Amino acid sequence: MHIDPATLNNKEMYKFLIGGVAPRPIAWAGTRSKDGFNNLAPFSFYNAFSSTPPIVGFSTIPRLDGRKKDTLQNVIDNKCFTLSAVSRRLVTEMSKSAALLEPEEDEFSYAGLEPAEAQTINAPYVKDALLVFECELNQVISFGDVEGSGNLILGQIKHININDDIYEDGYVNFEKLDPVGRLAGNWYATIRDKFELKRG
Ligand SMILES: Cc1cc2nc3c(=O)[nH]c(=O)nc-3n(C[C@H](O)[C@H](O)[C@H](O)COP(=O)(O)O)c2cc1C
Repeated sequence: MHIDPATLNNKEMYKFLIGGVAPRPIAWAGTRSKDGFNNLAPFSFYNAFSSTPPIVGFSTIPRLDGRKKDTLQNVIDNKCFTLSAVSRRLVTEMSKSAALLEPEEDEFSYAGLEPAEAQTINAPYVKDALLVFECELNQVISFGDVEGSGNLILGQIKHININDDIYEDGYVNFEKLDPVGRLAGNWYATIRDKFELKRG
């Protein structure tokens, strides 16, 4: 079967992306509004793009009512964000924190999570997370203003906060990090069924 994406509506195309680009890593973006309210939300359109300078990015899709996600508004206002890793033991809280709350409502307390203050930027992070990147905004690339148009937020890592137990000889112990990936619908994946393959 061959499909021209131009014949698909936004929902149909979205299903291709979430089913076909999977599993996707999940970053928990911590931001603060210009009025000082903490905000937390998970994003699976997330990845790393450069190591020198260290650049990571994630994409916010507008809400169904067309409004910007609070995360995007806060990043535009404050030019910074934290990215906390989502480990398997935190996945229930992660899911809860995706609730569509109003800007002045705090997803940390809604999801039963404790916030901690970033050291180098004006943003909160998940205190219980084992790995946190503190990022300064590099740029926002907006792909349009219709339903489903993403806004790719790229940031430069300014500070790394890693739990001592998972940092071994300069490597992140990914087994101990135990990250969760997102599939489609309500499905998630762990890295508990992994294998090793020598290159070449
Ligand atoms: C696992 C998971 C991954 C998500 N990934 C994205 C994403 O990549 N982009 C996006 O716009 N929303 C994503 N969402 C939905 C947002 O987390 C949700 O809309 C949230 O309420 C946005 O919060 P905010 O308005 O405070 O920024 C995801 C939700 C879950 C549970």
